Amino acid sequence: MLKLILVDKIITNSNPELIENAGILIEDNYIRKILNARDLNLIDNKKYQIFDAKNCIAIPGFIQTHIHLCQTLFRGMAEDMELLDWLKLKIFPLEAAHNEKSIYYSALLGITELVKSGTTTILDMGSVNHHEEIIKAIAETNFRAFTGKAMMDINNAYSKLKEPTSSAIKSTRELAEKYHNSFNGRVKYAPAPRFILSCTDRCMIEAHEMLQDFDGMLFHTHASENRGELEAVRKRCKMNNVEYLNHLGVISEKSVLAHCIHLSEKEIKIMRDRKAHIAHCPSSNLKLGSGIANIPLYLKEGISVSLGADGAPCNNNLNMFQEMRLAGLIQKPIHGPKAMPVKKIFQMATIDGARALGIANEVGSIEAGKKADIVLLNLEDTSNPLLRNNDNDIYSSIVYSASPANVDSVMIDGKWVYRKKEFVSIDEESVLHKSKIELKKLIKRIK
Ligand code: GUN
Ligand code: FE
Repeated sequence: MLKLILVDKIITNSNPELIENAGILIEDNYIRKILNARDLNLIDNKKYQIFDAKNCIAIPGFIQTHIHLCQTLFRGMAEDMELLDWLKLKIFPLEAAHNEKSIYYSALLGITELVKSGTTTILDMGSVNHHEEIIKAIAETNFRAFTGKAMMDINNAYSKLKEPTSSAIKSTRELAEKYHNSFNGRVKYAPAPRFILSCTDRCMIEAHEMLQDFDGMLFHTHASENRGELEAVRKRCKMNNVEYLNHLGVISEKSVLAHCIHLSEKEIKIMRDRKAHIAHCPSSNLKLGSGIANIPLYLKEGISVSLGADGAPCNNNLNMFQEMRLAGLIQKPIHGPKAMPVKKIFQMATIDGARALGIANEVGSIEAGKKADIVLLNLEDTSNPLLRNNDNDIYSSIVYSASPANVDSVMIDGKWVYRKKEFVSIDEESVLHKSKIELKKLIKRIK
């Protein structure tokens, strides 16, 4: 039976932009039709499985273009440090201590938080080992993700977290062959050489070359996040991050680079001319003291910018509402209050993310023919009620006022994952309980 979701309003990210008193007709995993108030008067309700959400507005699910599910267990365990110490003293030893179970629960816990806060698609960077467990968690929860194991064939900070170049490349290819475009297309692979400092040139180059063999695959890395990292890159490569990556031939329209905070004019041009994508992570950039990326300038240059929470230990949330709010707030004292209009921020969190991932033909908007990744928000929740809800107000309400408390239901690929504030198949209590147990064991394994 076709599903019909009745809502107060839809933000479509398409034309018309807002539709009031509307219905979304779902067939299998696709949006078949958007019905307006007049259409709804004419249809025979008995033909459809009706989901009444007339107190809610429907938005396209949030798309986060930089996440580390493998780090979710480590929230709160790496505070008040800058990037290179944070990695060396905390994150690398913690990641190296993962086993299959701990990384699986780390991913499940992260997905639980992401769904509850309205995210339906991510670009995820894993760790060196046990990556199949992350894929298992994504598949089981009906989540949508590009994911890839972190490729690390150099580690001068913590030698236990790395592998020989050939095995990083071989295991990446094997995972891509097995999982790229699997689970109804919800799981896609994205080779993820972690950053210049953890990768040989060959690792970077072969990771990007692999894209030629897999349609729709992406290249995912970190670049130009921290001044200490910049200095170390300059020392080794005699160039800045993006310049060097471009020199290696790995900056393309299929490349998503997290952070890009400290770009030179030349690097901004490279990003623009190559049509590469920046995953802006405002919370993480503030918390690690990394800096404030000049996003208004990047946008003016026409560079693709989307949003990501990064990992739980550098944020410490995975919640897109926080990223949208900060993406706006941090720029205003520098560039003035007109910088970062709310509608643009909302688009960065949805359709621009879909474009960055090359899947804007599938998700990122609510229109006929797209996959049904839909979030229902109840903006009348008394935690922060929006009283006059029209036009621009609705975007500002979502960007600056809303929180996970407003998320009522989440549909991914035509299936309810979270429905009227309850998970359909994730057992939250059990995920939490087992995550705690696995973290305790993991801490004992750190050497
Ligand atoms: N650079 C290399 N690895 C990481 C990571 O795990 N998190 C962040 N924020 N930056 C990185
Ligand atoms: Fe990151």
